[in-house]
Amino acid sequence: MSDEAIDLAVIGGTGLYRLAAFEDAEAIVRDTPYGETSGPVRVGRLHGRRVAFLARHGEQHSLPPHRVNYRANLWLLQDLGIRRVLAVNAVGGITGDWAPQALGLPDQLIDYTWGRVGTFCEEPGSEVLHVDMTEPYSRSLREAVLQAGVDARVALVDGGCYGATQGPRLETRAEIARMRRDGCDLVGMTGMPEAGLARELGLEYACLALVANWAAGCGDQAEITLEEVHANLEHATAPIPALLEALLAP
Ligand code: HPA
Repeated sequence: MSDEAIDLAVIGGTGLYRLAAFEDAEAIVRDTPYGETSGPVRVGRLHGRRVAFLARHGEQHSLPPHRVNYRANLWLLQDLGIRRVLAVNAVGGITGDWAPQALGLPDQLIDYTWGRVGTFCEEPGSEVLHVDMTEPYSRSLREAVLQAGVDARVALVDGGCYGATQGPRLETRAEIARMRRDGCDLVGMTGMPEAGLARELGLEYACLALVANWAAGCGDQAEITLEEVHANLEHATAPIPALLEALLAP
């Protein structure tokens, strides 16, 4: 592998399994101290920069949110020398601007997940870390992506609170009503422990959320269908290549 630094890693969520226009990508498969990653980390050139891509659920979408090895994924990205990680996450919208097909960058987070290994301090003898999570996402990476949105004329919702649920089932109407009272604007199943682990590793990490549906009880539909989710995600992923091009521009 070339020793030129990798400028950015993109973790693809539901609906994003490859990067368009990715040149000469090589597949890196490595054992980590935390087990197997979700799949190969593909490292190649995008708009003149070295970029890494990893499909969080596996390239065939075989891993549900609670089975993703978040630790292995982030550890390998860091071991490849990567400092900036843009995590793409499909979400349900709860409030106002977070409507189906929207893209945006949340700035806050509430963790409702359980039973996931959420720290690198798990093993006996590992250093005990109490990382600050007041601002769970990197301010500089968020700002760079928001600016890329302006440059590429891609509308992005700026700010909102991401509620991370356990899944893989969707939520009940009452659960979403509670999350709304808690201050959540969007709901997804993969935002944690990824953000916390990234902070433990000192990575610059931000979430690009793609709205797949109104969360339970938020729209006027009686239930959430897979067809609607896929159609909305297809729409929401369409501007990502232009957004990345602007983000990577010198
Ligand atoms: N809830 C949780 N996660 C999701 C949803 C949802 O409604 N839509 C896409 N990911």
